[in-house]
Amino acid sequence: MAVIHNDIGRRRFLSQAVMAFGALFGMGALALRFMQFLVPSQKPRQYEAVLIGAEARVPMGEPVPMNLGGHKIMVLKTEEGITAFSRRCTDLGCLVSWSKERGQFVCPCHQGVFDKTGRNIAGPPPRPLDRYQVVRRNGQLYVNIQMKEEENVGEAGSGRLIAKSWWTG
Ligand code: FES
Repeated sequence: MAVIHNDIGRRRFLSQAVMAFGALFGMGALALRFMQFLVPSQKPRQYEAVLIGAEARVPMGEPVPMNLGGHKIMVLKTEEGITAFSRRCTDLGCLVSWSKERGQFVCPCHQGVFDKTGRNIAGPPPRPLDRYQVVRRNGQLYVNIQMKEEENVGEAGSGRLIAKSWWTG
């Protein structure tokens, strides 16, 4: 009789120990995720940027259309800097082109118009053209085709720069 009683006690103890361990493990995992949420990683964001060529080769005020891995973009140099715009219109996605006479990006589908900063100024487009991050290293320009960002042209950080050039200079 005493042996059976001990067995039940041992089983109950083991069962409670397993449950307590599971609960502790779960709470620890939750606490870790919460800490990661509160204190984000300091690691710089990784990216892959494609070389487009020497900065000096980009003409002033005349966008250069490119196809970088299926991303259709236009690289425009102005007094304010160099910007890589997506050519996809923010209305329904038609490809915009540059009007030299107007100094604007125009969309052939519904007459959407964007100024040289990519801002939507006429027609149905609801927002500015998307922009890709432009990275400068040793006088060469790279376009980060994985990241659309507002800010542009900075010295390359820790991203992987792809040496395969679209447009060598
Ligand atoms: S798709 Fe460009 S204005 Fe409609």
